[in-house]
Amino acid sequence: MNIRELLNDKVLSAMAACGIPADLPALIAPGKKAGFGDYQANCAMGAAKVMGTNPRELAGRIVAALQPELEGIADKLEIAGPGFINIDLNPTWLGQQIASAQTDARLNIANVSNPQTVVIDYSGPNLAKEMHVGHLRSTIIGDALARLLEFQGHKVIRQNHVGDWGTQFGMLIAELEEQLGANQDGEMALKDLEVFYQQAKKHFDDDENFANKARDYVVRLQSGDANMLKLWQQFKDISLHHSTEIYQQLNVTLNDEHVRGESFYNNDLAPVVKELQDQGLASESEGAQVVFLQELADKDGNPSPVIIQKQGGGFLYATSDIAALRYRVKTLHANRIMYFIDARQSLHMQQVFTIARKAKFADDSVSLEHLAFGTMMGNDGKPFKTRTGGTVKLAELLTEAVERAGNLVRERSTDLSESEITEIARKVGIGSVKYSDLSKTRTNDYIFSWDSMLSFEGNTAPYMQYAFTRVQSIFRKAGVQPESLQNKIVIGTEQEKTLAIKLLQFSEVLDQVSREALPHLLCTYLYEIASLYMTFYEACPILKEGIEPDVRDSRLRLCHLVARTIEQGLDLLGIEVMERM
Ligand code: ARG
Repeated sequence: MNIRELLNDKVLSAMAACGIPADLPALIAPGKKAGFGDYQANCAMGAAKVMGTNPRELAGRIVAALQPELEGIADKLEIAGPGFINIDLNPTWLGQQIASAQTDARLNIANVSNPQTVVIDYSGPNLAKEMHVGHLRSTIIGDALARLLEFQGHKVIRQNHVGDWGTQFGMLIAELEEQLGANQDGEMALKDLEVFYQQAKKHFDDDENFANKARDYVVRLQSGDANMLKLWQQFKDISLHHSTEIYQQLNVTLNDEHVRGESFYNNDLAPVVKELQDQGLASESEGAQVVFLQELADKDGNPSPVIIQKQGGGFLYATSDIAALRYRVKTLHANRIMYFIDARQSLHMQQVFTIARKAKFADDSVSLEHLAFGTMMGNDGKPFKTRTGGTVKLAELLTEAVERAGNLVRERSTDLSESEITEIARKVGIGSVKYSDLSKTRTNDYIFSWDSMLSFEGNTAPYMQYAFTRVQSIFRKAGVQPESLQNKIVIGTEQEKTLAIKLLQFSEVLDQVSREALPHLLCTYLYEIASLYMTFYEACPILKEGIEPDVRDSRLRLCHLVARTIEQGLDLLGIEVMERM
């Protein structure tokens, strides 16, 4: 059920009946102000211009043709201002739509009619280092879009483009080899990747022999030496294990099967460079292979240089990204590739996309999207760091979130068991970190603040989770199973009507979020639902003495759809709900 689509179809056919050219849009939008229609069709002005007629007169003719089309769906069609058509929906019809959504497993949200194969590139930590807050945004936002597109019926292919290749791995496996020689336990040696990396780096800087060994190891690794590969694999497995633990803690849908890191494309790199040379796109410059992009020239007209192979033969981050893109189109058959990567990599992404287009690795039918995001800032307005200026480890951040949530839950309620508190603290803590990120406009920087993310007021995870539990408690009080309610839904008051229309806009919101990859629009929507629900709850008594059973049950069904919408919406964001808190 999608009201906007329904109205769009009806208005288009009314427009056709008035002789309006078929390529003109119906321009349907939800009403912006009370009293100006639940929806508006704003087509008359533009169409009148094209046809050289009077817009109000044309609106009148459209309304006359629309009236029979909307029989039983809309009550009132009104022309306002220069030719806006205001549409008031019929409460009986709304009640029927709510009833059918409330009992439907998918809330009456149909699968898309044109499913795509969507590759989503997200998370992508460097295995040489501990995952840090910079990867948090990519992981959380990318996962929300993966869940949402899958829910809509697209084929989603998650790709975790981890950094598992490159010169530093020579140093790392040389270090690992030494430490294994000393204590034999890889897990222990790599328990703290940050410390391990520093040890390796120090070793490399201070010890000439070690440095030479490290250099030798990279060469051997890259030429496929079995011993080197074994050490490298061991390093990789342990490091990936750290990330996987974080994914589980975060309730993110990434697992080992989604890992396809830079090393995967190793054998494609030379052929890709060759192809770019053959096509005349890459050329030699100071011993390196370079693609010069006039498309991305600077303001003085100098083309943007992209090195794809260093003097001496090494390949670069850009080379593996070009190879990955080619693989995603040719082998995975992607129609849409979404990259959730920090805004600071925009030039890199533009270069990769431009080269891929020019080389015909992706034709125009494939959508290539760098969905950049801003930086997570600390309270001081500077990039988020520990007090001593180090990078914040994700594992520690999440543990702190759960701890803080536990304290809050303990303060607020007295009748929860310790095991319930543990469970709730986990959902609230993790949910807060995720929601505070997802609810901000993706492209902006944002300030990470424990106090605001854990607040029970405002557009936060705890507020949304609490709204859900409030509905659960009404059902507990009423002693009714929501599924057992079969009565008609009567939309009798203004508050019920506003809430009902908002609930029925769920699929419209999901369409927009998946199109623009902006999950904050879903958060805003859920927040509006929760707020309208509070207004409805105050104005429309449910369990009060003297309320007719029919009215009570109708309102209960509306409450139930509110809870289900919040639950489904949060689930698409990867956030869990609970019965009580
Ligand atoms: N490993 C990279 C980093 O930490 C992110 C990878 C993003 N994905 C990609 N296809 N480049 O910066």
